[in-house]
Amino acid sequence: MTHDAAMQDFKPNQPLAQVHQALGAIDSGAITPPTPAAALAWAQALGLARLDAQVLLLHALGHPASDRAWLLAHDRDPLPAARLAHFAALCRRRAAGEPVAYLTGVKEFYGLPLAIDARVLDPRPDTEVLVDWALEVLAGRAAPRVLDLGTGSGAIALALQHQRPDAQVLAVDASADALAVAQANARRLALPVQFMQSDWLEGVRGSFDLIVANPPYIAADDPHLPTLRHEPSQALVSGAQGLDDLRRIVADAPRHLAPGGWLLLEHGWDQARAVRQLLHAQGLVQVQSKCDLGGHERCSGGRLPP
Ligand SMILES: C[S@@+](CC[C@H](N)C(=O)[O-])C[C@H]1O[C@@H](n2cnc3c(N)ncnc32)[C@H](O)[C@@H]1O
Repeated sequence: MTHDAAMQDFKPNQPLAQVHQALGAIDSGAITPPTPAAALAWAQALGLARLDAQVLLLHALGHPASDRAWLLAHDRDPLPAARLAHFAALCRRRAAGEPVAYLTGVKEFYGLPLAIDARVLDPRPDTEVLVDWALEVLAGRAAPRVLDLGTGSGAIALALQHQRPDAQVLAVDASADALAVAQANARRLALPVQFMQSDWLEGVRGSFDLIVANPPYIAADDPHLPTLRHEPSQALVSGAQGLDDLRRIVADAPRHLAPGGWLLLEHGWDQARAVRQLLHAQGLVQVQSKCDLGGHERCSGGRLPP
């Protein structure tokens, strides 16, 4: 039997038990083990994006996600049955909507490998635009004081601390679970971010040169919410219009900004105008928005007059 023919034992709609039966046949030498090429084709037939399937196969084989060249070099090698069973199980979970980062336990954000699990939002590449902007406004300020509200995995705070070792970074979250993930990331990456459990700015004292936040901003009845069901709803949903947390942050942040300090916020693709209005209403100046990687206005910010 050819490798690709063997992979026919792994039909996308098969119950897992049958997959394991077929894997048993591979194990006992009854059929030739399938190859990475066949396994990836099977995963794509299941509905997975090719990149996701590659990352999951590499994970199942014990390789880092960056090792895609290894897959190309070995795409006709037989796959060990146990690794294949692990890959099949991961693919089924991915097909049911679990983020790849929860399945592999790691996500690269701004060049940092973050440990990620279901206690925190899976950090998105679009949020790197907010980090770029934050670094721009911090340029030229020595030893800036920075506050990251709703830190989740610590993605923004850790990226800023890594880029600006001279900064004093405080990261806040209401979720003790999220803070445990963020603190573990900080320890592993040896980045001296401080952490605090707080309901937004309630427990925060002092003033900052930059306050940055990627708060929950999805409307409670948003039809896309079911596709995000694996992520904590506390990280996603914010009232009827998705603006409740943004309103609270914009109302409270200015009194914690140093003169000339910036407040930068991530928000939904259709919320830029509303957020700019909130920022103007607080007397902030240089109010503006920035586009995400898809060209949508997804971050807005303003500055306390110097
Ligand atoms: C969209 S996630 C952002 C996580 C991370 N900053 C990122 O960009 O990947 C929002 C975070 O805000 C936190 N959060 C929600 N309500 C909060 C509140 N009232 N006070 C502080 N943090 C809150 C959630 O626990 C979650 O970690």
